[in-house]
Amino acid sequence: MKKVILVTGGSSGIGKSICEYLHTRDYKVYGTSRNPDRYSDFDFNLIALDVTDEQSVERCIAEVMDQAGRIDVLINNAGAGITGPFEEVPNSEIRKNLETNFIGPVSMMKAVLPIMRKQNSGKIINITSIAAYMGLPFRGIYSSGKAALEVLTEAIRMEVKAFNIEVTNLAPGDFATNIAAGRFHSEVDPNSAYGETYGRILNEINEHVDSGRDPLEVAKAVEKIIRISQIKPHYTVGAFVQKFSVVLKSILPQKIFEKLLLRHHKL
Ligand SMILES: NC(=O)c1ccc[n+]([C@@H]2O[C@H](COP(=O)([O-])OP(=O)(O)OC[C@H]3O[C@@H](n4cnc5c(N)ncnc54)[C@H](OP(=O)(O)O)[C@@H]3O)[C@@H](O)[C@H]2O)c1
Repeated sequence: MKKVILVTGGSSGIGKSICEYLHTRDYKVYGTSRNPDRYSDFDFNLIALDVTDEQSVERCIAEVMDQAGRIDVLINNAGAGITGPFEEVPNSEIRKNLETNFIGPVSMMKAVLPIMRKQNSGKIINITSIAAYMGLPFRGIYSSGKAALEVLTEAIRMEVKAFNIEVTNLAPGDFATNIAAGRFHSEVDPNSAYGETYGRILNEINEHVDSGRDPLEVAKAVEKIIRISQIKPHYTVGAFVQKFSVVLKSILPQKIFEKLLLRHHKL
């Protein structure tokens, strides 16, 4: 029997790559979009979902259960970027981002866990970010939301272990997707105290995403996690230097690591 995989945010970037790859590997794949009607040429099923709307979450899960009768793997991929000088990012945008990047995955996990408990099996893979491991300047809100999801995963793992459910994080480095287009970013204001540094770093962030790696790499990492048993709490995927930064953060004295980040960003 084909494993049933639900991937939030299957319309573009990493989520689309995951859906396409798993579809070719003989899984039954359900991707999602807030506007599924916009996409007609997808090989996998694309259903409606806004992770910030609990009724939409319920409808999405019900639709998969109606069609497939089970959910073996949930991949919490839907997410959005947010950049800006912390002082200048409106709280309304911070709330919106955390609703998508943190509360959204929370709602999805709460909705699938009863199903997975009944099945006495299941896997949840939360797509976080290397940025979750370190507070990055002008990306503090993004780092925080992803870090919250990383730590929540550690806790949930222990609660659901008895039901044969495994939960993990997969943290990508930079991958070439549409994330910059959908991201909230504060305007670079030449009159702002942060105008020069933020403008420079925003350019760097955009260049990194544009020159990022092929999201197929993330899809392959996801499939590996689906196949193996006794998965670890945390995985990373991406360029060596980005994965290595996570290792450095865990072994270097805090002041040294911060100095490296300051030097890297010329702050
Ligand atoms: N690209 C990178 O370098 C990178 C690095 C680290 C982590 N990530 C993470 O990887 C994940 C995918 O990002 P991406 O780079 O592939 O970005 P992307 O190309 O912008 O794709 C984002 C996906 O999320 C969906 N989405 C956005 N808001 C949603 C909402 N409220 N409800 C449901 N779906 C929603 C979008 O679908 P619709 O617009 O069709 O609804 C789209 O399919 C995100 O969690 C991101 O934080 C990306």
